[in-house]
Amino acid sequence: MQLIHVLIGLVGSASAVDLYFHHSGDCSGASSVCSNMSPDRCCGVGRRDIYPSVAVRGIPTNWNLNCRGHFGGDCLFIRKAQNSNGANWVCLNDSTGWYSGIGYGFVNKKREPVPAGETGAPQEECVKPDLAILADGAQYDIAGLDEDAYNKFLDIVEANGVSADVPAEFDALRK
Ligand SMILES: *[C@@H]1O[C@H](CO)[C@@H](O)[C@H](O)[C@H]1NC(C)=O
Repeated sequence: MQLIHVLIGLVGSASAVDLYFHHSGDCSGASSVCSNMSPDRCCGVGRRDIYPSVAVRGIPTNWNLNCRGHFGGDCLFIRKAQNSNGANWVCLNDSTGWYSGIGYGFVNKKREPVPAGETGAPQEECVKPDLAILADGAQYDIAGLDEDAYNKFLDIVEANGVSADVPAEFDALRK
């Protein structure tokens, strides 16, 4: 019984890949994050291409993941795809434009890397970021927010905000 729980715990933590939308073009500063994402799912921020860079972080270095940055609304089209090849994180940025979605898949497993311009994960598999990390490192759980409050938080991230920019009504969400 206990061994089974340990094994389930190991399997769970081994797949803790986090997908980051960054306010900046170089994968730094404030970000909104889909934490613990499974492969071949979309982390999306809706219809607009609003983030200049995205990152896949927490990759086990013995995995080779095809990391995908999307545009056109959630994960509709692929702007850039890059294999991790032993790196523990991958930054996707490009002077050609911004991003509305992020995803990843295993190379040579489940599906082949998708060439740029082809469509990505189906829209119905899309989830929104559940975590906001501000420029001063403050983290907020944004999973349960209604749309207005959620958009307020994304505005703070896009402005590279810090915890002092967060209205007091959201203090309870701080992690
Ligand atoms: C992409 O990010 C790297 C750092 O991770 C940075 O040096 C480079 O200038 C960025 N490229 C663009 C187009 O912003």
